[in-house]
Amino acid sequence: MPHRITRRRFLKWMLGGTATAGLSALGGVGYAALVEPSWLAVERVEVPLPGLPADLDGFTIAQLSDLHRGPKVTQEDVARAVELALQQQADLTVLTGDYVSHSANYAPSCAEALSPLAASSGDSPPRFGGAGGSNALACLGNHDHWTDANAVAGALADAGLTVLRNAAREMANGLWVAAVDDVWERHADLDKALEGIPAHTTIVLLAHEPDYADEVAADGRVKLQLSGHSHGGQVRLPFVGPPLLPYLAHKYPAGLYRVGGMWLYVNRGIGLIAPAVRINCRPEVTLLTLRAPAA
Ligand SMILES: [Fe+2]
Repeated sequence: MPHRITRRRFLKWMLGGTATAGLSALGGVGYAALVEPSWLAVERVEVPLPGLPADLDGFTIAQLSDLHRGPKVTQEDVARAVELALQQQADLTVLTGDYVSHSANYAPSCAEALSPLAASSGDSPPRFGGAGGSNALACLGNHDHWTDANAVAGALADAGLTVLRNAAREMANGLWVAAVDDVWERHADLDKALEGIPAHTTIVLLAHEPDYADEVAADGRVKLQLSGHSHGGQVRLPFVGPPLLPYLAHKYPAGLYRVGGMWLYVNRGIGLIAPAVRINCRPEVTLLTLRAPAA
C-alpha cells in the first residue's frame, strides 16, 4: 500500500529542516567569528638558500604578522600568539607590520604583549657569529601609517623591538635582515634598506605588502622576502580561494612562492579586519628554517 505523506507530517519535516539549516548557519557564523580567529596554527617551512654559509644551515626565524591590536583583537590575543612564537625557540623573530587597527592608542598594549620576544634575545645571534642584541626585528605596515607610524614605531622600540624602516642589520656572519618601510604609502626605499650590506651576503627582506616581491626579485640582491598584509584573505572558499584580498596582495596571498630567483613567504597574520571572521584561513605563526644546499 503506497505510503501517503500527510500535510501535517510534511509541515513537520519542513519546520525541522528549516530549524536545522538555521542552527547550522548560526553555528557557522559562530565558528567563523569566535572559533577560527583564535585557533592559532604553526606553519613550518624550509627554505633552501644557495649561498647561505654552511654554518648557518638550520637557522630558524619565527614570523608574526598583522596583529591588528584594536577593537577586535585584545592584548591577550596578541600575548597568546607571542607565547606560541616563543615556544618555537627560533634564533630570530621577525614581525611584518600592521600592529594596530583604527588608532595608534592601541600600540603601547600591543608592544607590551610583544616585549617578551625582544627579551628572548638569548644567545642565538652570537651562536651564529652575530652581534647579539634584540632578537626581534620589525617593519611597519599600511595600518601603522594610517594611524600614526611614528607612535607605533616608538611604542615597539620602547618595548625593546628593533624597528627597521629602510634599514638593515647583521644577524650572523653572512646573514643580514633588511626591511623596507610601507609600500602602499610609498615609503619603501629598497636601495636605502640594502645600503652598506656587503656583497655575497644572504639578505632576508621584511616587506609588509607581498606583491612588492616582483620589484625586489627584479633587483636581484634579496634571497628571501617575508610579508603579511593579505591575512590570507581571511575567508578561503574551496575551489575558489579567497574572494577578497587587499591591494598589493592579489598576486601572492599566502604561503611560499618562487619569484624570479628569490623566495617569498606570506604569513596569514594573527589579527583581523572587518568583516572579523576567518574561514579555512587560521591565524598563523610561521617557523622558517633556512637551509644551505650542498654545493
Ligand atoms: Fe593587515
